This record gives sequence, structure tokens and C-alpha cells, in this order.
Amino acid sequence: MITQAFTLPQRTLMGPGPSDVPPSVLAAMGQSLVGHLDPSFVAMMEEIKKMLRQVFLTENEMTFPISGTGSAGMEFCFTNLIEPGDEVVIGINGVFGTRMADVAARCGAEVVKVEVEWGHIIEPAQIAEALNGRSPKLVAIVHAETSTGALTPLGDISKLAHDAGALFLVDSVTSLGGCPVRVDDWGVDVIYSGTQKCLSCPPGLAPVSLSPRAMEAIAGRKTAVQSWYLDVNLLANYWGDGARVYHHTAPITMNYALHESLRLILDEGLENCWSRHETNHFRLKNGLAEIGLGIASQEGHQLWQLNAVTVPEGTDESGVRKALLNDHGIEIGPGLGPLAGKVWRIGLMGYSSSEENVDRVLAALKTLL
Ligand SMILES: Cc1ncc(COP(=O)(O)O)c(C=O)c1O
Repeated sequence: MITQAFTLPQRTLMGPGPSDVPPSVLAAMGQSLVGHLDPSFVAMMEEIKKMLRQVFLTENEMTFPISGTGSAGMEFCFTNLIEPGDEVVIGINGVFGTRMADVAARCGAEVVKVEVEWGHIIEPAQIAEALNGRSPKLVAIVHAETSTGALTPLGDISKLAHDAGALFLVDSVTSLGGCPVRVDDWGVDVIYSGTQKCLSCPPGLAPVSLSPRAMEAIAGRKTAVQSWYLDVNLLANYWGDGARVYHHTAPITMNYALHESLRLILDEGLENCWSRHETNHFRLKNGLAEIGLGIASQEGHQLWQLNAVTVPEGTDESGVRKALLNDHGIEIGPGLGPLAGKVWRIGLMGYSSSEENVDRVLAALKTLL
């Protein structure tokens, strides 16, 4: 019989997510449960939707959190928009573009892949070439590719998508809160994110936003949305403005946490929050340069919140990560796919993006190398 509660160590989370969570977010989760249709919870839901619109910089009515992690947000977007046989163009420059293509294909889409070398951005010209002679339903891009540390600019690709008559779908799991994400200004029609990166909330919810154009496309479907759980028409009865109807039992305490984490970002100021990520990225980058380490992703398009650091020749990549965790209490991430063994991924996301954390990881790396 297990007689003791499980005690976990104190870590500093500086990997690709989750990031550290501020004490007030953890405290918010510790409040007692109310029902998922309790008037107080409904009032909280309204504030969450309002704050999500402020963080996504959108007026989109249909803006709310999906119950599930970032991948549930991805499935939600594709499953609602795609009908079997629809063509979609997907930019692939890492793990998450690859996952998008898999999800879209499972929804029955004809996927046109625009593949570029990992660590590089998707160039508008590459999307333009794929769109030549095509009129797909969607063009989909990962804004901040967490597996490589590259930030693809969205404005020109959005225009190309719309000129081709497509909707523009964006993965903002790692970008939201950590750098500009301007849904309305950039003409993004469908966007999803996750709570555990720059929003500084535990994993478990996937904020999404759909433009009126996207909602029109969904209303015009000939077939029912394949997923009952993720069907926006059904979810709207719970998250919409009308009478609240039971759909699923929302993860209540996760919503307490999201409310507090969004409140903290808006209290800091969204732009101040972006600037903090920028400043700490350059503090890390400069400090790494002093110990002979560089960033692997494309110069000029490096993420502020996720740094893919080149492992020096002959260094024990996983040994360094283990020592950071065991001797310094700092978690960083390994490379994935073609970057496995070649990079460390140092996250400076949300609450983890602090001067103190940058200095700690630099000092620890200096000792270990
Ligand atoms: C860019 C991106 N998209 C999607 C996901 C999937 O999110 P989750 O792991 O929360 O399901 C992640 C997670 O790391 C991500 O970084």
C-alpha cells in the first residue's frame, strides 16, 4: 500500500514547455470547485473569452479555450474546417508542421506539403509556388516552430492564402504571449494555442479563435464535423453567449488557472510581456556567445522564447542536460528529429523568461562545459 502522498522536486522549467507557473496561478487552481454551469463559473468563462481576445488581438466572437492540450486545438481547427477531399497547403519546417499534415490527412484532406529545411522559415515565395494553379480550402503554418526555434512571418503568407481563396490557419502554441501575434491585423482566420508555454499556465487547455469567414465556411459544410467532442457548433452552446447547455464537463480548475495567467499578462501589458521575452533572449544569446555557443536557427528569424543552441562537437549532449537537471534543478530540452543530438532547446517562456533564469543557465553551462 502507498502510505505517503507523492512529493515532486522543485525544478526551473527552461525547456520547450511546460514553462514555470506563477504562484498566483497555482493558488487560483487550489480554489474550491464550483459546478461547470455555476453562475460564478459562467461569469469567469466570459472574462476568459474577453481576455483571450485581448491576447490574440482579435474581435472574433468565437474565441475560447478547448478542453485539451495544444494538439487538441490543432485537431479542433482541422476537423471543423476540412471535409474529405478538401485541398490544404501546409508549411512544414519541423515537428509541428509535420503533425499538422498528419492531422489534416486523417481528416481526409488532400495535403500539399511545402517542406523546407528544419531551422529555416517558410518563405512566402515557397507558398506562392505551391498555390500556383490551386485554390485550396486552407493554408496552414506553424508561427513559432518549437522543434527548431524559427519564427515564420505571417503577413505575406496570409495575403497569398486569401488571394488564392483559402482560409489562413496558424499554430500559435509557442508564439502567443511571447511575441507579437496579431490575429485581425494579419488576417488569420483560424488559430490555436496552448496554455503551457508563454501563457505560463499548466498544460490542459488550447485557446482557439475563428474569424467570421471561418465560421461561414463551417456553416457551409456538406458533412457533419467528424468529431463530436471538437465540433464548434456543439461547443458554441456551452462557450457561446446564449443559454449555457451541457456539452462536456469543463476542466474547471484549469480555467481558474487560465483566467489568472491571462490577467497577469494583461496586467504586465501584452507589449511589455513581448519585450521581456525579447530582452531575455538577447541576454541569453550574448551570454552563450561569450562561452562559444551559438543559436542554430535561421539568423533574423530566431524565436525569443525558444533557443535551439548548437551542441559543440564532441560534447555529451544528454549528459549536459542530465547534469543541469540533477545538479542545478534546471530542465532544458533535447533536439528532435534531424536535430536530435545536435541542439539543446532552452526555453525562455512566460514566467520562466527572467534575467535571473538566463544568468543561472549560463553559469551552469559554463561550469559543465
Ligand atoms: C508549435 C506547437 N504546436 C503544437 C504543439 C502540441 O501541443 P501539446 O503538446 O500541448 O499537445 C506544441 C507542443 O509543444 C508546439 O510546440
